[in-house]
Amino acid sequence: MKKRFTRPRLELLRSNSLKILRKIKSSCLNTNDYLIIMVESKTLLVTGGSGYIGSHTMVELLAGGMYGFTRIVIVDNLENSSNKVLDRIAEITGTQLNNQFYFEEVDLRNKEALDCVFTKYEPVHSVIHFAGLKAVGVSVSQPLYYYENNVGGTVTLL
Ligand SMILES: NC(=O)c1ccc[n+]([C@@H]2O[C@H](COP(=O)([O-])OP(=O)(O)OC[C@H]3O[C@@H](n4cnc5c(N)ncnc54)[C@H](O)[C@@H]3O)[C@@H](O)[C@H]2O)c1
Repeated sequence: MKKRFTRPRLELLRSNSLKILRKIKSSCLNTNDYLIIMVESKTLLVTGGSGYIGSHTMVELLAGGMYGFTRIVIVDNLENSSNKVLDRIAEITGTQLNNQFYFEEVDLRNKEALDCVFTKYEPVHSVIHFAGLKAVGVSVSQPLYYYENNVGGTVTLL
């Protein structure tokens, strides 16, 4: 049976939802984004998703029908990849960027930007974490840089 609310109750619901939308809007989203949030969704984040292993994983996930996820979001700072990869993923799988899958150019160590990604694509159900640097030579010549990127990124994500 359809639930009926009294006028004051309806007003309260309306003002609360407007407050929530205003809060979301003022933080990090644009006008169109909060419409996405209102649709029931289940998001998977793939960090490093434009890299070698990440992009192959993306192809498998998309070609396999997304395994119950409604959105798959790549989070990558493009330090060791290119956004041309996104077009190739779409081409190979017959999908569309900003439809089945999304891309956010974000460095995992940037907590504020990462928080915005989690808010924008709420609810994030799962994360596959591939973002990291792995060139043996540089990891030996610049160990602290690698430590900061790989450990720092993972800690921020957690
Ligand atoms: N390539 C292999 O054979 C192999 C084998 C076993 C394990 N791994 C591991 O898998 C992971 C991915 O490897 P890959 O070969 O795909 O490397 P890759 O360099 O091709 O991909 C890593 C991606 O992470 C991104 N990235 C790095 N630091 C980031 C940060 N701070 N924030 C956001 N994005 C960041 C890079 O831009 C890149 O697109 C690494 O941890 C690697 O050690 C790789």
